[in-house]
Amino acid sequence: MQLSEYLAQADALARDARALIDSLDPATRLDVAKGQLNALKDERIAALQGSLRALPAEDRRAAGTAFNGLKTDMQDAVDAFAARQTSRDGDGAWDATMPARRTWRGSLHPVTLVIDEICDIFRELGFTVALGPEAETEWYNFGALNFPPDHPAMELHDTLYLGEDTLLRTHTSPVQVRTMQRFAPPVRVLCPGQVYRRDFFDATHAPAFMQLEGLAVDEGISFVDLKSTLGEFARRFYGASRRVRFGPSYFPFVEPGAQMDVEVDLNDGKGLRWVEIMGCGMVHPNVIEAAGLDSEKYTGWAFGMGPARIAMSRYEINDIRVLYDSDVRFLEQFAR
Ligand code: DAH
Repeated sequence: MQLSEYLAQADALARDARALIDSLDPATRLDVAKGQLNALKDERIAALQGSLRALPAEDRRAAGTAFNGLKTDMQDAVDAFAARQTSRDGDGAWDATMPARRTWRGSLHPVTLVIDEICDIFRELGFTVALGPEAETEWYNFGALNFPPDHPAMELHDTLYLGEDTLLRTHTSPVQVRTMQRFAPPVRVLCPGQVYRRDFFDATHAPAFMQLEGLAVDEGISFVDLKSTLGEFARRFYGASRRVRFGPSYFPFVEPGAQMDVEVDLNDGKGLRWVEIMGCGMVHPNVIEAAGLDSEKYTGWAFGMGPARIAMSRYEINDIRVLYDSDVRFLEQFAR
């Protein structure tokens, strides 16, 4: 074989490779394009490589250079194709007539919005946020909170047990104890979190829901601090002219126990009415002691509320289940 003949073959192969690449639809996947090119290479490069040996010795260097150049050219052709495929303004690679993907603005869940807003208000009143585990021990969930050992809330049909002594917390109040154990007073925390109960899923109940707990502990804290802080919160959250009232209530971990009601208009034509928004009270001395603090020295108050309930009254939602549906037609109303 003559050198000129060899070079002509190499040239022809380079042209064919380029023609092949140029003929590819820009939408062809890169691996498919490479496969086609490889098929061409396998068949004809092998032949070219074979004929190298058939050349006179003094021509082999020039032929070898051409052969290597050809391999580089083929790689360049593939690279150029890949670049065209990925660049948006490459001719034909980007179809400007293709329908655009619908864009949407995500939103925070209404319950999250309520929690954030409440946390912001309490932050201005000197509170920080504390979190605790959702899988709790009986002691943190009940015992340390002054529930008597036979309290019905601990029954299997009310509480979701994970094991002998582990359960899904039924309220966020255990975080009170965990916080007092970890941080020396003065303590001012808000504890948002998911809680679990063996409830049926209906318009007003869910077996898993968010709660928001608050706790203030220090020397000399009295019911006055509770009333003034929670009253101030309600005025900031619901509006300055909104009336609140406190009434007696019972929870084992507070003494005295209370509930706070707010006068709200649910926009159902029935006008203003009192709605209970939280349970609260002075932290029971037994709870302060269980957390390892001296109840003669320290007093405190606490509250617990359900942000879902608050979101429902605020946004006129009458079935709690829509808060769990993940239906974007409902959720996108809250985008801002
Ligand atoms: N843990 C109570 C519940 O789940 C709510 C609650 C009531 C929390 C009074 C408190 C409180 O901190 O003082 O129903």
